Amino acid sequence: MEQQKRYGHFDDQHREYVITDPQTPWPWINYLGNEDFFSLISNTAGGYSFYKDAKFRRITRYRYNNVPMDNGGRYFYIKDGDTVWNPGWKPCKTPLDFYECRHGMSYTRITGRKQGVEASALFFVPLKKWCEVQKLTLRNDSQATKQLKLFSFEEWCLWNAATDMENFQRNFSTGEVEIENSTIYHKTEYRERRNHYAFYHVNTPIQGFDTDRESFIGLYNEFADPQAVMEGKPRNSHAHGWSPIASHYIEVTLQPGEQKDFIFLLGYVENEQDKKFEAPQVINKEKAHQLIAELDTTEKVDRAFAELCKYWDALLDIYKVKTGNDKLDRMVNIWNQYQCMVTFNFSRSASFFESGVGRGMGFRDSNQDLVGFVHQIPPRARQRIIDIASTQFPDGGCYHQYQPLTKRGNNDIGGGFNDDPCWLIFGTVAYIKETGDFSILDEMVPFDNQPGTEVTLFEHLRVSMNHVIENLGPHKLPLIGRADWNDCLNLNCFSMDPNESFQTTENVTEGTKAESLMIAGLFVVTGKDYVALCKELARRRQDDGGSADVYTAEAERMQQAVDEMIEAVKKDGWDGEWYLRAYDFFGNKIGSNECDEAKIFIESQGWCTMAEIGAEDGMVAKSLDACKKYLECEHGMVLNNPAFSKFIYEYGEISSYPEGYKENAGIFCHNNPWVIIGECIAGRGDDAWSHYAKILPSYVEEKYQTLHKVEPYVNCQMVAGKDAARPGEGKNSWLTGTAAWMWYTVSEFILGIKPDYDGIRIDPCLPETASDYTVCRKFREAEYEITIHPNGQQKGIKSIVLDGQPVKGAVIPYSAGKHIVEVNM
Ligand code: BGC
Repeated sequence: MEQQKRYGHFDDQHREYVITDPQTPWPWINYLGNEDFFSLISNTAGGYSFYKDAKFRRITRYRYNNVPMDNGGRYFYIKDGDTVWNPGWKPCKTPLDFYECRHGMSYTRITGRKQGVEASALFFVPLKKWCEVQKLTLRNDSQATKQLKLFSFEEWCLWNAATDMENFQRNFSTGEVEIENSTIYHKTEYRERRNHYAFYHVNTPIQGFDTDRESFIGLYNEFADPQAVMEGKPRNSHAHGWSPIASHYIEVTLQPGEQKDFIFLLGYVENEQDKKFEAPQVINKEKAHQLIAELDTTEKVDRAFAELCKYWDALLDIYKVKTGNDKLDRMVNIWNQYQCMVTFNFSRSASFFESGVGRGMGFRDSNQDLVGFVHQIPPRARQRIIDIASTQFPDGGCYHQYQPLTKRGNNDIGGGFNDDPCWLIFGTVAYIKETGDFSILDEMVPFDNQPGTEVTLFEHLRVSMNHVIENLGPHKLPLIGRADWNDCLNLNCFSMDPNESFQTTENVTEGTKAESLMIAGLFVVTGKDYVALCKELARRRQDDGGSADVYTAEAERMQQAVDEMIEAVKKDGWDGEWYLRAYDFFGNKIGSNECDEAKIFIESQGWCTMAEIGAEDGMVAKSLDACKKYLECEHGMVLNNPAFSKFIYEYGEISSYPEGYKENAGIFCHNNPWVIIGECIAGRGDDAWSHYAKILPSYVEEKYQTLHKVEPYVNCQMVAGKDAARPGEGKNSWLTGTAAWMWYTVSEFILGIKPDYDGIRIDPCLPETASDYTVCRKFREAEYEITIHPNGQQKGIKSIVLDGQPVKGAVIPYSAGKHIVEVNM
C-alpha cells in the first residue's frame, strides 16, 4: 500500500489532535463553545463566530469556497523588522520555523515560531459566557531585544449571514462602530430594531486601531498583505458603512527570554430595550465592561480555561472503555463523544460544508443526534425533545427543520417527510432509558408552536405512530411523502426544471403509490419501542394502584400495527436476496434485482435487519450477506449498487449525482451503522466489527490522511464510494448523523452497554478475537465498573455477577452507588 503523507497525530493523554503541517489537504477545523456562543476555527485560525444561530446572529464574516481556501478568521499579524508572519501560517503564509495546531475539547491552540519569537494562541469560549477568548503569548527566544508590532484582526458580519452576502445596496451604508480605549464595538443596526452588539477587546493599552476594512487592508490588497500591517502603521480609521472590522495595534518590546500574554476578547451583548443607550447614539456598554472585567488577566483566563477542561473531564467520565486497542479507545472515550456534542449543538447548520445559512435544525437529524448526546447532559436533551415536538403538526406530520433562535418551524422547507414522526419516538425513548425520567411524557407541548394546542408529549408520540399507519400505500407499506431518510429519493417530485428544489417540489401526490421499506423497518423498530414503553407505563400505573387499561390497550393496538407491517414487508418487501427499497409513484419496485441499476440499497437492509423482519425465514442473514457482497468495499458500504449512470426522472435527486458520490452510491457513513447494528442483533460479531473499523476515523487516520482529505479525528457524512473517481475521499465532515450512530453502535451494540428502563442491559457483540475489556459507566445516580470476558464468543451472555451476587437475565437492576460487574460470555 502506498505510504500516505501524515499531517498530524493523536495525543490521547491531552485529548488533542496535533497538526504539524498547516497545509492540510483541507482545512481541519474545531468547534469552540458549548451552549450559546460558538466559533468554528480551522488549523490556521480561519472561521467565524456566532450567537446561537449561524444565520441570524453571525458575529464575524466568513466567505465560503473562497480563493484561496479558508480565507478570513481571527488573525494576529506580527511584524518583526521587515518580516510579517502569523502564528497559524495563514494568511501571510510566511514560512514558519515551527508550526503546531492542537485541537482539543472545545479549544484550539495554535503555535508558530519565527526568527526567535514564539507566538502561541489559545482559543476557547468560557463556560456560560458569550465570548471567544484569544490568549496570545509572545516569547522572545532569541538573544536580542525584540521590537514587535502586533496587529489583531476580525471582520464583522452584519448579523444576518444571508443578507450579509447579498444585499450590498443596503449593507454598504449601515455599518457603525464605536471605539473606547482598547475596545472596538460593532453596533450596526443597533439604532433601530436590534438590541445587541459585539465587541473586540484587548487587555492592554493600544497604540492604534482600525475599524474600516479598506483603510486597513487597502482596496486591492488582501488578508495576506494588509497595507497598515505591511507599513507598520495603523490608520486609526473609523468605519462609516462599507465593511467594519476590528484591529488593534500594539507595540511590544520583549527582552531575551521575556514572555507576555495578551488577552483578546470577542464578545456579544444583548441589552434590555429601555437600557440600550447610555447617551444619545452611544451604546450602553455596561455588560461589555462586566464581561471584560471577568476575563482581563491571565489568571482569570487560565481559571476559565481550567473550568472548561474540568467540564470536559466530567462529560467524558460518563462512559469510559479500556480495551487495550488505542484506536478504539480514543474514538469511544474522546472523539466520538466530542463529535456527538458538536452535532447535537449544530445539527446540520454550520461547518466548513454547511454555510450556516442553508438549514436550521432538522427534525429527524436532531432526534438522532440526541442518542449520541443524551448521556452527556440529559436536561439539554430533554429541552431539545420538547423544542422538536413543538414543531409537529396535529396529524403527527412535522416541520422538517426549525430555526434555533426562534424555535419555529421553517416554512421554506415545510413538512411531508414521512419518516420524521418516527424519530421522535427514537429520541424520546433514548432519553427516558438514560434518565428514568418518565415525567417528560406528561409535559404539555404545543403543535406548530401555537399556544392553546398543547397536549402531552406522550400524545405527540401517539400521533407520530398514527401518522405512519394512517398513510399506508397499496402494499400496506408506508407512503414515502417527499422523501424518507434519504432526502434524495424524491418519488413524488417529477421535476425537469433545474430551478426547482427536489426536496420541496411535489408535482404530483394524488394517487401516488410510492412506498418506503426504510420507513417500514423504522416503524417496526420504533413501534416495538413504543409498545414496550406503553407496557412499562402500564406496569408503573399498576404499581401505583391505578388503572393500566389505556396503556395496555395502546400497546395492543400498536403491536398489531407492527405485526401487520412485518407481514407487509415479508409479503411485498422482499426481493429474494434482500429487502426492496421502495415502490415508486406507479407501484414499480425500487432496489430490486429486476432493476437495471441500483438493484440494492442499504437503508432498507439496515432498518429491516434491525427490525429482524423475517429473521426466522433467513431473510436477515441473506440481507446482511447481500450487503457484504454488493455494497461493501475497502472504505465502507456504499448506499446503492450498481450506481445510477443516468438521471431518472421518477427517482429525483438521487440519480442526479455522479456515480459514487453522495446518495448515488457514495459511502454515506450515517447508514453504515444501521447494517452494523443489524449484524450485532444477528450475533455476527466479526462482520459487525469489520464494517465498523472501516469507517472508524482512527483506522482511517492511520492509513489515509491524504486520500481521506478531511479531518481524521471525526466522521464525515460521505466518503466517495467504489464507483467514484477517488474512492475513499471524504466530504462533509463533522455535522452528520454518523456521529450519533457510531456512538450508539459501539457503546450499546458492540461493547453492549445498553441503558434500559430499569437498569443496564448487557448485550455485547464482538469479533471472535476480542479480549477482556472494562467499561466504566455513570448511569443516573450510579457508577458501574463492568468487565466483560468474551471468552472467544461473539454474542450471548453466560453469567453476570453484580457486586459478588449472580444476576438473573441480562439486565443489571439499577440502584444508586458504586457497583462492580463481571460478565462472562
Ligand atoms: C440530511 C439528513 C438526510 C441525509 C440523507 C443529510 O444531509 O441532513 O436529514 O437523512 O442527508 O439524505
